[in-house]
Parts: sequence; structure tokens; C-alpha cells
Amino acid sequence: MKNFIKNSFILVDAEKIELLAELKKDIYFFSCKELSLKKISIDYFYKNFHKLKISKLRLNKYRLKLLKFLTSNVSFKKNIYDSYSQILTKILGPDVAIQKSLNVVIHQPDNMEISPLHRDAPENSPYEIVLWVPLVDCYNTKSIYLLDKKNTDANLKYLDNKNKKINNYLNRILKTKGKLPNIKFGQAVIFWAGLLHTVPKNLENETRWTFNIRLKNLFSPYGRKGFLDYHEVFKKSHLTKLGLDFEKKKY
Ligand SMILES: [Fe+2]
Repeated sequence: MKNFIKNSFILVDAEKIELLAELKKDIYFFSCKELSLKKISIDYFYKNFHKLKISKLRLNKYRLKLLKFLTSNVSFKKNIYDSYSQILTKILGPDVAIQKSLNVVIHQPDNMEISPLHRDAPENSPYEIVLWVPLVDCYNTKSIYLLDKKNTDANLKYLDNKNKKINNYLNRILKTKGKLPNIKFGQAVIFWAGLLHTVPKNLENETRWTFNIRLKNLFSPYGRKGFLDYHEVFKKSHLTKLGLDFEKKKY
């Protein structure tokens, strides 16, 4: 928690890594069936997904089916949350809203589709965090680039600038001041939605698989992404349940 207060991001270990291992297996079995993969180990599948030579069309269809599979199975979100529940509850409190969709981002080496340096808020709420959970070990360019709170504050003024010199300066800042944490499977990064971040072009010879899930306190202000459009109620405290029950009965 100390690091979250100091830097507005934190690298955490799973309290229940077995829940993540289970999810990793479920995605592997689903994918083997969908992509007709035979005799391929779980480790090979995740690391070498880019070597399977799946056509673009098939890959897109697979991604959509995977999104549906992940979002429709309510236990997946719960298992991810429960893997880090102590620290998440400390940060968010007992009443939690979570983004509705659950997607795993598959980033193959040399894939150029990367987002520029950005922050998720104010499009998302500044009262929100991102839970970045990899399904593989993420090191060097397989990781995520984060500027801590101090460096985000100092460099916000350069954001979204078309000037090449300023852009080069920002890239230099990212390389010198940015953190690229070494994240092992089972670990996750939790960062505040207001932090500047980007995911670098993956130059490692392994595919990156990550969940990024946005969470906030149910009762804190929402961003431009409205409550029921983007979020769903995930956890309610006993007091909130009492209050809601009271309102329903219209005493
Ligand atoms: Fe982002």
C-alpha cells in the first residue's frame, strides 16, 4: 500500500495464484477447441501464440468468441478480483463497481497496434484504478510503461502535442523516468487511472497476454463513461445492502 500512496501504482503478488492458474487453463482449453490445436502444451500456447500462424480473419473471430466467453462467465472476474482482494479492498473500500466487459489483450511480437502515451482519466473516472494482470511473465518490452505520480504531474503539459521535438522529449522522459516493472505470472500492477502510461511495442520473442480491468468505488464520481453503460455493481457492503433494501421497501 505504501507504494500506491507514494507513486500511485503498485506491483502486487496474488494471494491466490491457483485462481489465476485455473483461469489460464480455462482460456487454454477454450482456445485449443476454437482454433483446433492439438498436442500443444499450455506453456507453448501462451508464449508462442504468434508462431501458430493463425490468419487475421480467424484471429478476429477467435478474439470475439474469447471476449464473449470471458465476459459471460461471471466467475472469471470474481477469481481475478479474489486473487488480489486484500489490497483491492484497501484501495477501493467494500462497495465496488467493475467494468462490464472482460477482455484479455493478446499482443504478438512486433505488433504495431500500440496506444500512445496516455492516461485513462478523465475519459474514465479519476476515482478509478486499472488492474493489469498478465497471464505470462512480463519483462522488458513485454511489460507496461508507467510514469509515477510525480513524473505524470511534471509532464502532463506535453501530452497530445503534435510538435516532434516535444514528442521526442516525452519519449526520452518515458525511457529515463518511466517504470517498466518485471511482472511474473501471479503478480499484477495496480495503477491510478490518472497516471501516464503506455504498453511498448513487444520486442521479445513471446506473446503478451494481459487483462486490464477498471475498478472504482461504487459511490465515487463517474467519468465520461457512465455507470450502467460501462460498469456493473460488483460488491456491496452490508450497510449498502441494508440501505438498498430500505429504499426498495419505501418505508
Ligand atoms: Fe490505458
